[in-house]
Amino acid sequence: MIKLDYTNTSLKEDLSAYQKRVSEIHQQLLDKNCLGSDFVGWLDWPLNYDKEEFARIKETAKEIRERADVLIVCGIGGSYLGARSAIEMMKGLYPDDKLEIIFSGNTVSSTYLAQTLKHIEGKSVYVNVISKSGTTTETAVAFRLYEQYLEEKYGKQEAARRIIATTDKARGTLKNLADKKGYRTFVIPDDIGGRYSVFTAVGLLPIAAAGLDIDKLMAGSAKAREDFLSDDLNKNAAYQYAVLRRIEEKQGNTVEFFVSYEPSLTMTAEWWKQLYGESEGKEGKGVLPASVTFTTDLHSMGQFIQEGTKNFFETTLMIDKPMEDLIFPADEDNLDNMNYLAGKSIDWVNKMAFQGTVDAHFNTGGNDNIIIHLPDNSEFSYGYMIYFFFKACAMTVLLLDVNPFNQPGVEVYKKNMFKLLGKI
Ligand code: PA5
Repeated sequence: MIKLDYTNTSLKEDLSAYQKRVSEIHQQLLDKNCLGSDFVGWLDWPLNYDKEEFARIKETAKEIRERADVLIVCGIGGSYLGARSAIEMMKGLYPDDKLEIIFSGNTVSSTYLAQTLKHIEGKSVYVNVISKSGTTTETAVAFRLYEQYLEEKYGKQEAARRIIATTDKARGTLKNLADKKGYRTFVIPDDIGGRYSVFTAVGLLPIAAAGLDIDKLMAGSAKAREDFLSDDLNKNAAYQYAVLRRIEEKQGNTVEFFVSYEPSLTMTAEWWKQLYGESEGKEGKGVLPASVTFTTDLHSMGQFIQEGTKNFFETTLMIDKPMEDLIFPADEDNLDNMNYLAGKSIDWVNKMAFQGTVDAHFNTGGNDNIIIHLPDNSEFSYGYMIYFFFKACAMTVLLLDVNPFNQPGVEVYKKNMFKLLGKI
């Protein structure tokens, strides 16, 4: 499913030098005694997920699709990036769908919130509020606005049907509120952190509401779980990627650019940045995750990447088969001198740009390029890819002796903000 190509890298170490440490960490993950082991529920989730809840997710998604024009997904960080990345990657940026999905609750921009409230006027609205802690300010601020909007518009009873909360199974402000108001609830398991939660109701409800097949998505994640069960670095592409990142860092490449050639993968890059940044960036350690979308950004960041400071490597996610393709037409007058491409597929042009860019960046620019090939953007492939990145992330961060599953640094801004806001 995933082909990892690291032939365009100059490595000063062999991957096999890491085998012993990889095997030790692999065993710790299996035995659930690694750093942060309270949060490794995602490892076996593709097999253990709650099948009864899964059926309820599908029913609820069906109701949303039948009754709503707009679904507002209200959440931040791990409580929205997975769903948004999935929907954009699998449906593209202009999906042909009656249901519009808006991701909100991830900013306290007054302009954004006011414009969203105006945008939904006159439309049939459902809200899925997602927060594991139930107290995240950005989400809570937006949710109160949408909740009051729905109650005013539909009355309390109908609003209660249209609001669905995804949160802790028993505790927290959002769980209490949802129970008191009679909202439907879905569970974020205790042992799965936000950024590892795409395969739980956090991701699955919005993804199913978008009309995507979550059975296939879970099947993809289960296949990846099986494929990445080996600790053998010759066989496990997730562990190869994990080790490559550590070797690159040792060689002074402390920034990693996630590269894609599809605008619909921009949110996948954002999801990946959160997964790797929040898991790894602790104790003064870690590779800084950055992203670019080519060929668009070859006309902005391309200059720096080709000739600027050499402190980075690139990891390209290449979707081998595009969702759609077009044949470039011939033109009788050829005033734009573009007939040399007549009859060629646009995706072929994109792939030639990719090949030319890897050559320019590696052979001329001296930047290492790791390439991750994914066959297509189907639900199965998406599920497979997400699990690949989870497993690689856990391994690469544990290789640094860092806990991949907490995010203590995020609390610092919150403390300052709460003081300024006068929160008691
Ligand atoms: O990955 C994480 O744990 C975080 O990004 C959280 O998902 C994010 O802070 C939102 O938290 P919560 O779901 O508690 O509102």
